[in-house]
Amino acid sequence: MISDKMLKMLNDQINAELFSSYLYLSMAAYFESENWNGMAKWMKEQSSEEYEHAMKFYHYINEVEGRVELEAIEKPKFGWNSPLEAFEEAHKHELYITDRINKLVALAIQENDYATNLFLNWFVNEQVEEVATVSQIVHKFKLIGDNKTSLYLLDRELGMRASK
Ligand code: FEO
Repeated sequence: MISDKMLKMLNDQINAELFSSYLYLSMAAYFESENWNGMAKWMKEQSSEEYEHAMKFYHYINEVEGRVELEAIEKPKFGWNSPLEAFEEAHKHELYITDRINKLVALAIQENDYATNLFLNWFVNEQVEEVATVSQIVHKFKLIGDNKTSLYLLDRELGMRASK
């Protein structure tokens, strides 16, 4: 049986993951409006992954016989000044999510909640991967600058992201 405090934090994380999904979908829509179809594809995949993350928390809460409680999802930002700005925000957002996951782990350890700690391990690894991936993309955008041909090629590369 998990504590009420743990349950509340897990439910809050469902909301944070759904917001991530919403934020990345908003970024995808921005890219579509600017005809960066590869970047849009990448962000739509990312948005789907975030929904899956939310569902992992949803299933775990049910498994431990907690009650899933959904809250309103905040409106995400509507537009960005450049693809670089959007990906920089995605990077910042992933660092924020990592911090949230770390806080969840800290509570699980504090409460000797071994099952929740084990469940969260997957997210600890996932966050390392996600932060690194977005960081590499930001780095590429910075290298490219305003070079249109390179931006076109990067858009194509991002559009090759496979669906899970
Ligand atoms: Fe579910 Fe990108 O953190």
